[in-house]
Amino acid sequence: MRRLDQLLSSLGYCSRREAEGMVRAGRVKVGEEMARKAEQRVDPHQVLLDGRPLEAPDGLLVVFHKPTGYVCTHSDGEGETIYELLPPRWLARNPPVTSVGRLDKDTSGLLLITDQGQLVQRYTSPRAEIEKVYEVGVDRDLDPALVAVFASGTVMLRGEDKPCLPARLEITGPRTASLTLTEGRYHQVRRMFASQGWHVETLHRSRFGDYSLEGLAEGEWRVVS
Ligand code: URA
Repeated sequence: MRRLDQLLSSLGYCSRREAEGMVRAGRVKVGEEMARKAEQRVDPHQVLLDGRPLEAPDGLLVVFHKPTGYVCTHSDGEGETIYELLPPRWLARNPPVTSVGRLDKDTSGLLLITDQGQLVQRYTSPRAEIEKVYEVGVDRDLDPALVAVFASGTVMLRGEDKPCLPARLEITGPRTASLTLTEGRYHQVRRMFASQGWHVETLHRSRFGDYSLEGLAEGEWRVVS
């Protein structure tokens, strides 16, 4: 059971003070009954605001199709951010939503968005070994020998002292490939190809663990919890 005004404000609908006005205006129901006061204790799953259940009262997890051209940061001054594409209410939640890891500005594809810190930790921990699949386009024809190189667990990235974990490369066309990683180092895909002399021109993440984009167009999302 939660205090109604705290609940509505933590889910980003309004401030606690505004919750009082919403209750007085008759916009909030608890089950079949009109809410009586902002301080009353309620079961979050019983609350209706303007006739609709509250969004993800136990925590939000969203599959988002990030377009290219947007950065995954909360800070100003780095260009347009993915958060400008999402409902403002998600940022007004407490805690606010954040992305699970990041994609580069020039990378498109699957990004998980959540307000649950423990999910961010679980999904970004190297020990979790979650498979991430990237569709890659490069600047010159690929060499089939790269498959064994990336699978070997010996690829060193500039400035790092541990080799990349074995990665699965599937060549899908003269200059296109699909790469499956279980770790997520800074600019990893671009740097792995660069270490072997290829420049990545297009990069798209098609899968993150069990999640896929399943028909989501760029800029669209699906709430999964
Ligand atoms: N690897 C990269 O180089 N960039 C991304 O955005 C994701 C993985």
